[in-house]
Amino acid sequence: MPLSDLIADRAHAVEISGIRKVFELGRSLKDPINLSIGQPHFDVPEPIQAAAIDAIRSRKNGYTVTQGIAELRERLLADVRKQYPHPDRELLVTSGTSGGLMLAVMAVVNPGDEVVAADPYFVMYPNMVKLAGGTFVGVDTYPTFQTDPEKLIAACTPRTKMILLCSPSNPTGAVMSVEAMKRLTEFARARNILLVSDEIYKAFHYDTAARSPAEFDDGVLVIEGFGKTYGMTGWRLGYAHGPGAIIEQMTKLQQSTFVCAPSIVQWAGLAAVEYDVTGIVADYKRKRDLLAAGMKGKYEFELPGGAFYLFPKVPAGRTGTEFVTAAIDHNLLVIPGGVFSDRDTHFRISYAATDDTLHRGIEVLNKMAG
Ligand SMILES: Cc1ncc(COP(=O)(O)O)c(C=O)c1O
Repeated sequence: MPLSDLIADRAHAVEISGIRKVFELGRSLKDPINLSIGQPHFDVPEPIQAAAIDAIRSRKNGYTVTQGIAELRERLLADVRKQYPHPDRELLVTSGTSGGLMLAVMAVVNPGDEVVAADPYFVMYPNMVKLAGGTFVGVDTYPTFQTDPEKLIAACTPRTKMILLCSPSNPTGAVMSVEAMKRLTEFARARNILLVSDEIYKAFHYDTAARSPAEFDDGVLVIEGFGKTYGMTGWRLGYAHGPGAIIEQMTKLQQSTFVCAPSIVQWAGLAAVEYDVTGIVADYKRKRDLLAAGMKGKYEFELPGGAFYLFPKVPAGRTGTEFVTAAIDHNLLVIPGGVFSDRDTHFRISYAATDDTLHRGIEVLNKMAG
C-alpha cells in the first residue's frame, strides 16, 4: 500500500499556499523585483535582538508555562486591561498569530459549523476552518473592500459559530469602520456567535487611530502578533486576549499542541513592547503614498488605510493568475488575487520593500498597464 493512502482527508482538504507557488516560480529569477512578501523589509531592531541573545546566554532556553512567561503576560495584560477595562479579560501568549487563530478555531468550531469572514481574506483562514471540519463562508467585499456588516450578518445561519474580522486587512489593507465593528459586535452578542478580531496589522494604521471591536463588547476575542510590527515573523510570537472561558480552552489546547511560544522569543517580546515603531510606520505610510502615486491613472485601486498591501484590479481581459504570470516574465513578483478570494480579478502588491524596489516595480507595472 503506498504511503499516500495514509493521508487523512483533512490534509487533502488544505491546498499549498498560492503565495508559496509564486515564490517557487520566482526562484528561477536572478534578481526579481520582489513585491510579494508579506513581512516587513527592515531587520529586527537591535534592542529586541539583544534581548533574544541575552535570553539564550542566560539559559532561558527551557519550556515555559503554556500561558506564557509571567513577565510578558502581565505586561501585555496590563496594557490590554487599560485599553479594554472588562472584568473578564484573560490573555494567552501564542506561537505567532497563526497559533492563536488556530487555537481559537479549534476551541469553538465543531464539524459542520460555519465561520463567516470578508472575501478577500487571509489565505490561512479557510484552511484553518477546514482543519476543524467546519465550513468557511466568504462574503464578497469588492470593489471597495469595506466590510458591510449587513452582508456579513446575512451570511450567518444557525450553524455560524464565529465571525472572523481582519482590520487592517491582508490582502486589501482596508480598515473597517467603527460603525461596522459596533454593529457586528451587537449582532454577535445577540446571536451567541464568537467575534474574533485578527489585529496583526494594528500598528500599521496610516490615516486613523487603531480601533477594535473589543471596545464594544467583552465577548470579543482579539488575536495580536509581534511578527509584522517588529520584523520578527520567523520568531513566532503572538497573543490572544478575550473572555476567560474561551482563553481557558485555548490554553488547554495549546498545552497539547504547540506547548508554549518559543521561550527566548517571549523574553525578546518583553523588549519589543518597549520599542517605539512610530518612525517605521511613518516610513510605510510614505511608501504607500509613493506606490499609490506611481500607479495612479494606470490601475484601479482603493487607497488602503493600513497594513502594507495594495490590491489593484487587473487590467481588463486577464485573470489575476495570468497577470502575475506575465509579471514574472518581467522579473516582477506579486500575488494573484485568487489566492485570497473566490475571484481572481486583482493582485496583491506588498510595499514592505526598499524605495528602489518600489520604483522598479512601478516602472514594470506601468509598462504592463499598456
Ligand atoms: C491577517 C493575518 N493574520 C495572521 C497572520 C499570521 O501571522 P503570524 O506570522 O504571526 O502567525 C498573517 C500573516 O501574514 C496575516 O496577514
